[in-house]
Amino acid sequence: MNARTRPSATGLSARALLTPEPFVRMFARRVQQEGALDLTQGDYKNADFAPHPEVVRAAQRITRNTVHSYGPAVGRLDVRNEVAEFFNRDGLIDYPGSEVRFLPDEVLFTPGTRAGLAIVLEVLGADGSGVVVTRPSWEYDWFIERAGKKVVELPTTAPEFLPDPAALERLLAGGQVSCVILNNPHNPTGRVYPRELVEELVRVAVRHRCYVLYDSVYQRLDYVGWFVNPAFANPEWRDYVISLSGLSKMDMFGASTGARACWLVISDQIRANGVRARDVLANLSAWLVATPSTLAQDWALAALQSPLAALRRPSPYMRERRDFILQAADELAYLGIERTDFGGTFYAPLAFPGLVGEKFDRVRHGVHETAVVRNSVDAFEFLHSGGVGGIPFAAFAGGPDAPDGCGAVEICGNGIDDDCNGTADDVSDDFTKADIERVSKL
Ligand SMILES: Cc1ncc(COP(=O)(O)O)c(C=O)c1O
Repeated sequence: MNARTRPSATGLSARALLTPEPFVRMFARRVQQEGALDLTQGDYKNADFAPHPEVVRAAQRITRNTVHSYGPAVGRLDVRNEVAEFFNRDGLIDYPGSEVRFLPDEVLFTPGTRAGLAIVLEVLGADGSGVVVTRPSWEYDWFIERAGKKVVELPTTAPEFLPDPAALERLLAGGQVSCVILNNPHNPTGRVYPRELVEELVRVAVRHRCYVLYDSVYQRLDYVGWFVNPAFANPEWRDYVISLSGLSKMDMFGASTGARACWLVISDQIRANGVRARDVLANLSAWLVATPSTLAQDWALAALQSPLAALRRPSPYMRERRDFILQAADELAYLGIERTDFGGTFYAPLAFPGLVGEKFDRVRHGVHETAVVRNSVDAFEFLHSGGVGGIPFAAFAGGPDAPDGCGAVEICGNGIDDDCNGTADDVSDDFTKADIERVSKL
């Protein structure tokens, strides 16, 4: 072994180097770099979607008086108090007769839902246990595997994308599963799960003593008013449902993906051998973040104290945008465009089965070639060649992207997801580039 081939103690970690760029980010980057109409990201990028000026002013006022030094690893008590109030108020709207309440000490302030997810997956469930994820799904796999656990897939089918409680029951019957991630409203399918379904899924999970990680970060982007938090449905479920949410997608008041002002709500009763899960989480938070940003906490306080925090609907702008996309999709249905109900989130899931089999030009490895749309990445490139940038469904784990499938692409509209039920038979002969250009002007 010479000096050039000998492993080196310096350099970069192979494990880190093997971490893929999140696919959604990779496609979004391509769209941005190549200057297409950017429909890739759910975000509040323009003034219509800025946080409310009253919230901004309140945050400025609060932050002037804050002591910006290290504080509790779980977040300040005044902030956790406000989160608990917000959380309980919402829960009682979902379940007016509920006896369930959460205390400020059951709240952990986190720098983003991502951070909450990372630490809770690290703590709950035995090492190597399974974590159920409905498919298609957002980027949970990386978090699960990094926490030393295994992804267990629960497939759903278009256009409903509703998880089947009987299928969940079969998965859990085998044992070895510690957690079920439920994301509601759901990215990337745009579905808000009906109350009965949420309850049935939680019932199955609790029967098998599995925790439900309830990723409800889109809870205020619910256009159909179906969102509920099942932790309030039943006192027993209070000790199984761990909620992850925050201001990231709290349209109407917080609207701040960049503020990293989020929370995790976990029952104090979740313990093993006398050790509280919450204390272990607090310890991890102390190692990783020391204390959540005082600025983020001030921001959360201002937002949650605003009267707007009580409004459970999305802003009129957000709804207008969602309605616009639905209308546009319906008008273009004759081109072979299909949609789901798009009940929640930023993302309008569209399917483009009419594109399957279409020829288009693309550049691959610097070479121009003629390609045919066969899958979602092709459909992404086809649309991209017409100046429209979405996210192919392939970027989402378990997206409907079978080889004979229909060119699924998610366009965030912010999103449009397209899933595909169609086959080559569905190809519309008159789906031309001019049509795509028209779409791009919408
Ligand atoms: C389903 C889902 N969960 C969590 C997150 C992460 O949210 P945050 O920005 O609060 O970390 C996202 C962001 O896109 C998401 O789509």
